[in-house]
Order: sequence, then C-alpha cells, then structure tokens
Amino acid sequence: MLRKLLIGTALGSGLAFAAHAQDVKEVEMLHWWTSGGEAAALNVLKEDLAKQGFAWKDVPVAGGGGDAAMTALKAMVAAGNYPTASQMLGYTVLDYAAAGVMGDLTETAVKEGWDKSVPAALQKFSVYDGKWVAAPVNVHSVNWLWINKAVMDKIGGTEPKTFDEFIALLDKAKAAGVIPLALGGQNWQEATMFDSVVLSTGGPEFYKKAFNDLDEEQLKSDTMKKSFDNLAKLVTYVDPNFSGRDWNLATAMVIKGDALVQVMGDWAKGEFNAAKKTPGTDFLCYRFPGTDGSVVYNSDMFGMFDVPEDRKAAQAALATATLSKSFQSAFNVVKGSVPARTDVPDTDFDACGKKGMADLKAANEGGTLFGSLAQGYGAPPAVANAYKDVVSKFVHGQIKTSDEAVTQLVNAIEDAK
Ligand code: BGC
Repeated sequence: MLRKLLIGTALGSGLAFAAHAQDVKEVEMLHWWTSGGEAAALNVLKEDLAKQGFAWKDVPVAGGGGDAAMTALKAMVAAGNYPTASQMLGYTVLDYAAAGVMGDLTETAVKEGWDKSVPAALQKFSVYDGKWVAAPVNVHSVNWLWINKAVMDKIGGTEPKTFDEFIALLDKAKAAGVIPLALGGQNWQEATMFDSVVLSTGGPEFYKKAFNDLDEEQLKSDTMKKSFDNLAKLVTYVDPNFSGRDWNLATAMVIKGDALVQVMGDWAKGEFNAAKKTPGTDFLCYRFPGTDGSVVYNSDMFGMFDVPEDRKAAQAALATATLSKSFQSAFNVVKGSVPARTDVPDTDFDACGKKGMADLKAANEGGTLFGSLAQGYGAPPAVANAYKDVVSKFVHGQIKTSDEAVTQLVNAIEDAK
C-alpha cells in the first residue's frame, strides 16, 4: 500500500521518470527446462534479454512434463512470492488467472498485434476474461516417432503407416537384438505416448470426444479398451530398466543407437539438435502411425504474474521478446517446437521443423488440431493427473486388464471433474 501511494505521489507530482528509473531490470522465471536441448533453447531467451540489459534469475525445477515445477510454483504463489513469469501448460494458466494472481499483458499484446498473429487455439489459454495473461512461446506436438536412422537401415525398416506396421517394425528391431522402444516409465511420459495410441486407435473424432470433450460414452467404449490393448502391446517392446527413467535419457538411447525409436513430443528433437544430429541423416521423424493429418499439441506459455509496479517493465520486455518474430524462429529451431505465431517463415527450420509447421497449419485449417490430455491441453490439471495415474498404473501392472483400466479411467475422470 505504502509503495503504491509513493508511486502515486511520484506520478502525480510529475516525477514519473524518477519512478521509472527505479525499475528492477531483472526477470525471474520458473521453468522445467533442464535437459541439454531445453537449456540450449532457454539460453536463446536469456541472451536476448541480456542484450536489452535485463538480468536473469533462474528458478529451474527439474522433472519433464512439469509436475514438480508446478508444485514448486504453487508454494511460491501461496507465499505471495510471484516470479515474473512461469512456464505453464494450458489449463494451468486458466486456473491461476481464475485465482486472480495473473498480471495483464493486454497493452503489450495490442501494441504487438498478438490477436492477429497468435492462433486461436493458443489464445483460448493465454487470454482470460478479455485480458492477455500469458505469452505463448511455442507449439509442441506429441504424436511423433523419433527413430535412429542407422538402426532403421540395419534392420531394413521403412516408415510404419499403421499401428500393425509399427508392431512389425518393433519386431524387426527385437529380432536384431536392439531395444525396440525407448520409454521412460514416468506417468507423464506414458500418458503422452497413450495420447498418440488413442488417436491412432480411434481416429480424430474419437480422440476429440474422449480427450477434449471428456464424453463418457467414448471414455468407456470398446475403442478405449482397444487403445489400452494397443498400449499393452507397445509396453512389451520396452527394456526392463524403464521405470523412472527421464525422458531425455530415453531420447539418448535412440541417439546412441541402443534403441530404435521413442514416442515423444518434439522436445525430443531438441536433444538430437544438442547432440548435433541431422534429420534424414542421423534420425527420422515420422508421425505416430495412423495419426497422419492430425496434430495433438501443447504449447509452453509464460504465465505472467501480477508483480509489483517496479517489475512490470521487465515483464513487458519479456513478453515482447517472447513473441517477436525473430525470437520465435531462433528459439523454436533449437527447442524442437514450432512458432506460436502464424507469420514466422520456416526458412531456418530443419526438415522435421518444416513438417511440424506444415502439419500444424493443415490441422488447424482442417479441424484436426487437438489438445494433448497428458500435456495440459485436454482438460484441467485434476483430470489430466487422474488420467496420467491410471495409464501409469496400467503400464506398471497395478491395473491388470484393459477392461479394468477403462473402468478406472472413467471413474477417475468423473471424480476429478
Ligand atoms: C514441455 C516441453 C518440455 C517437456 C519435457 C513439456 O511439458 O511442453 O517444453 O521440453 O515437457 O520437459
């Protein structure tokens, strides 16, 4: 209160410039970008802000998928200790906005014309009650295969176009003594893979109704049961040490040729980039078999908190930098994602990035762009967590049959709603 009054007095007496000069030239950011590829991408942002004279206060919370980071953020916010911004996924932004702790970026958004350049699917999660509360950094998609090219050549494999062809390919790898499928046995990774399995098994309409609309008929259908059957098949191709493995270590298994393929969001490409690997030569990116034409997306957003006045200029600078066209290209080339604006040229992107951009455009226009349930864009966090829990219990044998998995999924989602 006293601070506000003082600022009010300064402005009122024509001393606005003096107040401005006291702005804190620092951005404090909470995030879960701790792998090699992620850290490299984050550096692009740090350097951009450093050039403008802003210091960087890093609040990294390791743990892919961000569950640990979100627990840490909750504690900070509860203590009234808001960072300038936090990495967040879809529905989490809306939850914080509803709690009244987000700032208002609308002035920056209007000046920069975000409403024209940011796709509607992202605005749904970055605008709350008519105000911009988050700056989307990228668009990731989860329905990808990442394949070691040398292993693929060795086993004489070709791009699998259907789920059955995928199983045949995994069999070939197994016969050649290579680990067929690199998976990290953590709930968010298993559920991220299951998003693709469901889309492949049931098709686009089914995915949307089940995982975006939470339609109970679909959730308890035979198609969902078949999806769990298919997941069970995939899990038979995983090595025995998969429990608890971090996602980037699973990617490293593919990079090194210890495993043929990983099913993962395109943040995996950031790891190939960091290891100086080239698509087409060292690795291959295909859509998860049977999902061509659809994109299951998530987007990293920088949720912007209602920080004190003297931190607002730094926050606005962060927001402006995040959505600048040049940054959107430079950052996403390194991160493995694609731009959060529709007007960024694909010139600097590699073949997988160009494909990602073209796929996103086509899916957006064709009505086959769907939010990832595992990645916070299908339903609010409580539902997503219930989903991750059921899928993981199934993968680790605590839920023994597909029938039981379907029942538990329906109940858990109902309870969480
Ligand atoms: C984020 C990515 C991140 C990945 C693994 C996802 O939820 O959207 O940016 O690279 O988790 O940490």
